[in-house]
Amino acid sequence: MAKWLDDAIFYEIYPQSFMDSNADGIGDFQGIISKLDYIKGLGCNALWINPCFTSPFGDAGYDVADYYTIAPRYGTNEDAKQLFEEVHKRGMHILFDLVPGHTSVEHKWFKESMKPEKNAYTDRYVWTDSIWEAPEDMASIRGISDRDGSCAVNFFSSQPALNYGYYKITKSWQMSPEDEGPRATLEAMKDVIRFWLTMGCDGFRVDMAGSLVKQDEDGKGTIALWKKVRKFLDEEFPDAAFVSEWGEPDKSLQGGFHMDFLLHFGPSHYNDLFRCEHPYFNKEGKGDISEFVAKYMENYEKSEKKGLICIPSGNHDMERLARQLDPEDMKIAFAFLLSMPGAPFIYYGDEIGMRYLENLTSVEGGYNRTGSRSPMQWDSGVNAGFSTAPKEKLYIQQDESADRPTVEKQQADEASLYHEVKKLIQIRQSHKALQSKGEIEFVYAEKDSYPFAYMRSTQEEKILVVLNPSGKEVRFDSRLALGESIYSYGGELKVQDGSIVVPACSANYILLTGEK
Ligand code: NOJ
Repeated sequence: MAKWLDDAIFYEIYPQSFMDSNADGIGDFQGIISKLDYIKGLGCNALWINPCFTSPFGDAGYDVADYYTIAPRYGTNEDAKQLFEEVHKRGMHILFDLVPGHTSVEHKWFKESMKPEKNAYTDRYVWTDSIWEAPEDMASIRGISDRDGSCAVNFFSSQPALNYGYYKITKSWQMSPEDEGPRATLEAMKDVIRFWLTMGCDGFRVDMAGSLVKQDEDGKGTIALWKKVRKFLDEEFPDAAFVSEWGEPDKSLQGGFHMDFLLHFGPSHYNDLFRCEHPYFNKEGKGDISEFVAKYMENYEKSEKKGLICIPSGNHDMERLARQLDPEDMKIAFAFLLSMPGAPFIYYGDEIGMRYLENLTSVEGGYNRTGSRSPMQWDSGVNAGFSTAPKEKLYIQQDESADRPTVEKQQADEASLYHEVKKLIQIRQSHKALQSKGEIEFVYAEKDSYPFAYMRSTQEEKILVVLNPSGKEVRFDSRLALGESIYSYGGELKVQDGSIVVPACSANYILLTGEK
């Protein structure tokens, strides 16, 4: 099922900021279509587009007002259909972003559910039965309806929580996932899924996938709900892929997701890699990879290979890689990201090391995330080739620095991050062991120590990956006999007195020929 994930390499597009085709200062679907060859040329064969449905954009589109129409700023449903076709023509796949946990207050379901008279949407959201009672542990919307009650919110206060029921029921107004209201919510969401998959979409990234059933400490209720969705997919859309924003693969993969993201929140230690006081992938060499690896292995084992674990380069919610890593560090970071199991996700612009812009005024509920959402830098033209609109009309201001990276500059420079990422993708795509389902075994991942080494393998081949982001030469004891080098950046490995010597700031992939 969803076999295409086996060699998928995703490119995440924040549609507002990728390419503007009609000079209104904001990206759109025709803009994306015009850049598909660029994405394919980099080597990515799959896309994830952030929410693109009709919305008041209080949370950049994560506040959906109509799940069935493309927001006019991006185009029409016809443009979406064309996008699916253009993607498929190039042998690529595409995920849309499903936001099942909440809608915008402007959604017609919510407007109906605010009415005091009982109707088909009365139980669509989580409501208490008195304005004077708020749902425990959750913020709520109160005093804006004639209906008596407070409505739980899932994220910002303009995002009321859809009702999928409670796992542990402690109040009379709380419903079971099996009650009629919650069941109808799930059916409504399945209809949304069906609509887009029938039109040609290949699956969804699922927003806050772990949040649906309330008072569900161990996730059991939410896992049971997603199992139902998986059953429906297997029956009706067996090739569709669902990727969860959950951050706990031991749970999400049991729920039937094909893949789960490690995230900047939750227990994964993902932040230890690129985003903490001392990131591991920084040449200062003060990072620690051991807790990340311990948690990764725990998840890998607990999820029993039911699905994949995916490590993104970043996303629209976290600071860009370039905030703490320089271009050389980023090359080694990509040598890691592109040699781990699960399908890699490259956040648009990370392939050229686009920077996090400090101190921007919040745009559409971005707050500190706004600095990671600035328009793509294509070339040396007006607005870096993103849009021909006047500069003041751009959705978010651009990186103004003279040395800002652009695709044009990096394509012209063989030593650029862009070319390194492209090369790494080509190598991954010519070795199954490096792809989504190759096995992984950690060889060296000691506390507060460098290098970091692991083995990727299939029955046919074994590849040793050795990464030393630190600025110092290091060595580790190993009985491995090194074979052919299939990738080397920053200097090759040497064998000396039973240990492997690893140059400073280097990344190496070695085909193993056997053990000594
Ligand atoms: C996670 C999304 O990635 C984020 O951008 C959004 O604000 C929240 N979920 C709420 O939907």
